[in-house]
Parts: sequence; C-alpha cells; structure tokens
Amino acid sequence: MKNYIIALDGPAGSGKSTIAKIIAKDFNLTYLDTGAMYRMVALYMLENNIAFENIKNVENVLDNIKVDIINDKFILNDEDVSLKIRTPEVTKIVSPISAIKAVRTKLVDLQREISKGKKVILDGRDIGTVVFPNADLKVFLVASPEERAKRRVNDYASKGIQEDFQTVLKDILERDHIDSTRKESPLKKADDAIEVDTSFLNIEESVKAISDLIKDKIGG
Ligand code: DC
Repeated sequence: MKNYIIALDGPAGSGKSTIAKIIAKDFNLTYLDTGAMYRMVALYMLENNIAFENIKNVENVLDNIKVDIINDKFILNDEDVSLKIRTPEVTKIVSPISAIKAVRTKLVDLQREISKGKKVILDGRDIGTVVFPNADLKVFLVASPEERAKRRVNDYASKGIQEDFQTVLKDILERDHIDSTRKESPLKKADDAIEVDTSFLNIEESVKAISDLIKDKIGG
C-alpha cells in the first residue's frame, strides 16, 4: 500500500506515545516521538547551562545540537540520552523551550525529512495542524488532567522516580497552559481531526479505537 501519515496529537499524558508505539508495531509503521526531539533540545540547554529565557541564547546554540533517532534510541550529539530526556528536570523546562520559533523550525524540518517516503505515525502537539496538515488520518487524544497526572506518576514510578500526584498535576496543567496559549503552533485540535477521549479507556481499548479508525480511513 502507498505511504501514509498518521498524526496523533494531544496534551501531556493523554497516552499518545504508549498508543503510538503499539500501533506502529501492529501496522508496521515508523514511529516518530516528536516530544522526545523537543526534550533533547531542552536537555542540551540544561546540561550546557544556557539561560534559555533569553531566546537569543537558544538561537545561538541551535546549530550545535545534533538530534538523531537510531533504533528507537534518542541520540543527542552522539550520546544516547533516551533515559535522561524523561527526568522531571527536563519535563519542567521543555514547554517554554518548545515555544521558541527557531527550535520549532529546526525540529519540524527534521520531522518532515525523517517521514519522507515512509508509512509513519507521529505523536506531538502540532502534527495535524502544522507539520502534516494533509495527514491521511488525524487523531486528537484527550483525557482529564487528573487521569493524565495519575498516569505520569505511575510512569515515573516504573522508572524509579518518586513524584507526588499534586506536583505532577500542577506541572501538567502548567504545560497544558503554555502549550495551548503559545504563539507558535499551539496545541489545538485540527478541524478535521477525530477526538478520542481515553479517560475511561485502558490501553487496549484506546489502541482498538485508533486501529479501527486506521482501517476505516486508510485500510490495512
Ligand atoms: O509529549 P511530550 O511530553 O514528550 O512533549 C514534551 C514537550 O514538547 C511538550 O511540553 C510540548 C512540546 N511538544 C511540542 O511543542 N510539539 C510537539 N510536536 C511535541 C512536543
């Protein structure tokens, strides 16, 4: 079958990456976790003590940042940072950094380049609105903030990181706010995206809902 693009957008903790990974396996697609790319840029700022509040400082170092994804590993300037990009320290600063136009331009170019000539599922915030406005299927995943915070706490726990529910909930609400009110490519459901609420769905049920949409809209 011809190549196609599936855009899976939604707020933090809506289940995008868990679901996208399973769908990619089931349908034999390339999976591109675009949030991880923004996290790599954020990690660079953290490790190099860049005062990112000043956009000029970020723009000045962007050319020094090499972002690669090799065999599902996230590689920042030749170092595997797959674990480092998931820490609460990175999570706390990634939203403001991803709001910077020059950062987005660099990463969106890369996302389009990686997706060329493939069957791809990308998860993010702006895939259906900006990166691939002509995607073959657009899904917008939502879930209540409390449910999303609960999932994040469990997620951290499985990585041996202890974070309390209220802190994570506050962080999620803050990120929702920054992501959806920023000037550049805000988090927003594309007009032609199909909304799937996963608040009361487990992973298998969520995967089933999206698999059905793929079969309906794309076939296969
Ligand atoms: O999905 P995530 O939590 O790993 O995303 C990390 C941050 O990156 C999130 O706060 C918003 C930003 N992001 C974005 O602006 N655009 C994307 N396509 C993906 C993520």
